[in-house]
Amino acid sequence: MLAIIGGSGLTRLANLDVSRREVVRTPFGDPSGALTFGRLGGAEVVFLARHGYGHTIPPHLVNYRANLWAIAKVAKADRIISVASVGGIRAHLGPGTLVVPHQIIDYTWGRSSTFFEGGESKVIHVDFTHPYDTALRGELIQIARIVGQTVIDGSVYAATQGPRLETAAEINRLEQDGVDIVGMTGMPEAVLARELEISYAALCVVANWAAGRADSSQGIHFESIEEVLHASLAQARLIIEGFCSS
Ligand code: HPA
Repeated sequence: MLAIIGGSGLTRLANLDVSRREVVRTPFGDPSGALTFGRLGGAEVVFLARHGYGHTIPPHLVNYRANLWAIAKVAKADRIISVASVGGIRAHLGPGTLVVPHQIIDYTWGRSSTFFEGGESKVIHVDFTHPYDTALRGELIQIARIVGQTVIDGSVYAATQGPRLETAAEINRLEQDGVDIVGMTGMPEAVLARELEISYAALCVVANWAAGRADSSQGIHFESIEEVLHASLAQARLIIEGFCSS
């Protein structure tokens, strides 16, 4: 079973032939919404809107543990494709670009970021050298090419706390750290998937230039973000449908 977690602008999959919705309670609280099960292409998939179906849950308040637990233990998915919007920092990563990142730096704080809280269980340190599943990333990139969509293979994703956007100086610091794209939800989602031994890859849509860069030099303009997201998420949908039909 493949799970798709939709981010900003992707609260539903238009071509998903929905079979049922399941409201799930988990030991970690409530997920962002009901799990939506159905068929897409030839595949059984489960869809979850990260920010809720009405897009009401900000990045720092998403219950990542409940979401991942529901996907793993209720939907029994073994693969996740996460769709997320990001800001582009490097010159080749302008608005409208699709990116399949290969690395993460985590700048978030105060989020519940592990299932291993000690107590009765043994201390467990998961390996996270390569935070995204190499095979799943490769498949995603290959399918994108087959369906005629350009994606950037590899980049370093910074997970910032949000919900505010960054300052121009923070973006400069991120660039010095080796970051290419910046978003607010990649962590702890990726590590929780790893703890549950689910293959996880991300398809990121660059919605805007990061703060202080190019046409965001004087501020980030939300009107243009919506337009860009609309067009690029249509491309992301094509890739996901291609993936499910392959
Ligand atoms: N920064 C952080 N997260 C984002 C951005 C950004 O510029 N754009 C979309 N998500």
